Amino acid sequence: MIPDSFIQELLGRVDIVDIVERYVPLKKSGANFSACCPFHSEKSPSFTVSPSKQFYHCFGCGAHGSAISFLMQHAGIGFIDAVEDLATSVGLTVPQEERHKQAQDKREQNAPLTELMAGAMNYYRDQLKVSPTAVSYLKQRGLTGEIAAKFGLGYAPDGWQNLQKIFSDYNQQGLVDCGLVIVNEQGRRYDRFRDRIMFPIQDQRGNVIGFGGRVLGNDEPKYLNSPETPLFEKGRELYGLPQARKAIRDEDTVLVVEGYMDVVGLAQWGVENVVATLGTAATEANIQKLLKQANRVVFCFDRDSAGDRAAWRAMEVSLAYLTDNKVVEILQMPGNQDPDEFIREHGKEAFVEHARNATRLSEFLLRELVKQASPSTPEGRARLVHLAKPLLQKVGAPVLRVQLTKEIANRAQLSQAEVEAKCELQPLARTRAAPPRSTQRPMARSVEFQLLKLVIRSPALAARLPHGLIDSGLAEGAVLMAIVDAVEHGAQPGSGLAMMMEFFRGTPHESVLSAMVASSLEDDHDPGQDEVEFVATINHLQNSALNREISVLVERARHGLSPDERTRLSALLAKKAAATAANTAALAGNGGFLV
Ligand code: UTP
Ligand code: MN
Repeated sequence: MIPDSFIQELLGRVDIVDIVERYVPLKKSGANFSACCPFHSEKSPSFTVSPSKQFYHCFGCGAHGSAISFLMQHAGIGFIDAVEDLATSVGLTVPQEERHKQAQDKREQNAPLTELMAGAMNYYRDQLKVSPTAVSYLKQRGLTGEIAAKFGLGYAPDGWQNLQKIFSDYNQQGLVDCGLVIVNEQGRRYDRFRDRIMFPIQDQRGNVIGFGGRVLGNDEPKYLNSPETPLFEKGRELYGLPQARKAIRDEDTVLVVEGYMDVVGLAQWGVENVVATLGTAATEANIQKLLKQANRVVFCFDRDSAGDRAAWRAMEVSLAYLTDNKVVEILQMPGNQDPDEFIREHGKEAFVEHARNATRLSEFLLRELVKQASPSTPEGRARLVHLAKPLLQKVGAPVLRVQLTKEIANRAQLSQAEVEAKCELQPLARTRAAPPRSTQRPMARSVEFQLLKLVIRSPALAARLPHGLIDSGLAEGAVLMAIVDAVEHGAQPGSGLAMMMEFFRGTPHESVLSAMVASSLEDDHDPGQDEVEFVATINHLQNSALNREISVLVERARHGLSPDERTRLSALLAKKAAATAANTAALAGNGGFLV
């Protein structure tokens, strides 16, 4: 992974005109350069290179991009090779990302511990082979040797210091650090895991970082787990990930279950895209990792009170990480069965069918809220909005949030705007007049289109975009939001358009952005005028948001306002008066420019 800051620096050092000229003779044409396109055959030049935008575009075949894209396309090389090539040409060295360096240092420090864990796993696995009781326990639970091998299952024999047999120095600190050996108060050392079926827990690279050990009978505790160690952080890891990775990719779905045995039992029946959280409720780190693996995440929970609480918790945690193209679903197992018991009784088809019908997160949220609030009375409907507020505020995906708000509004017998005001949500979808149908006049462009055009002309403006006011339901709005996001994550829009394009390489926003860049190649760029237009556009957005909220409150005032609402309304009216005065002054100052 090459850090964005380096790409930024690199694009600041190279000149796209030089790079293209290495391969294609260019002719000056106005502010730009032109040539016959190297990417398709043509007689008259439609290939344009803009030095100010550091961008090329062919009006014939649509090829476009930064200096990096040009090298990739022209030399048919990959992104990293293109970056290295460019870096060498200007005397820069491509750095390793700091984060990666740190991760690597950590890996090196932990290597001795990882080796101890691997040694233990091999030992437990060998012991399983020679322990008929352990083998018959697994058989009786329906597992074959093949699946046991796939998950590296083993057996820790009874006895206090068995690990002495494989580690020449049983007293080494490493064995304690990685949780295999415990030191008691008298300083005596003994094995943590004794007479248990062993489930090795692996990280994404397949290193063993911990174990879960199950008793063969009904003793307590049923499972003993590795403690938190430098290798093992329970809340971050998912059991079964390396084994499930391929199936998760193939199905673009990951099932999340609660137990080791559920992962292994489902795999035994051919349901392989399954991982388990490690005896904890789903954490934010879990959700983030899961959503990176697949676009659909299905949490399976037992249908008991603990399972119901866990489902609610998973829903709460997931809300913040949803995007409009990712879905999270909740699968509540019927009866009192966990997934392993269910598949053993009903078979694969029944389980898969059941998983297909899992409940969408939005549906689950609404269903549970309605259950809690019983909105059949005015009090219940008020309670519904009250309960919904913290959840709606968490939802990250803008379009989904609007959808949920509408659903809540429906059930609460309020308008969407009223729920938005009550829950202090930034209204994202604005109602605007339908564009004129007439074919004579050009289509009215959205405010988002205007803003994006300005940001493309003057990228530094991106840092000042008012993200709460942008309608991300529009393609241009979505690109703007993504730009805001990138800026919040450290992108420096001021470093230019080519950098911005690099940020969106390979994302769904790339095409909208590059189409707008292409259409702006011939534009003259007057930073002063851009600034004026930008401020006016933002004012316009803010005023309409203000007016919308005022009219909601004024409408509501007919039935009486709460003290809070009254305060809010007078604050809004004061703000409006101030804005009007400021606008009048601005109008006088800029020759009557209006959006
Ligand atoms: P379950 O009790 O549902 O276990 O606990 P299971 O995986 O279905 O196992 P079987 O079928 O009874 O053999 C779910 C998970 O909670 C954690 C473990 O991670 C377990 O897989 N757990 C449970 C513990 O850590 N300790 C315990 O004592 C019990
Ligand atoms: Mn079970």
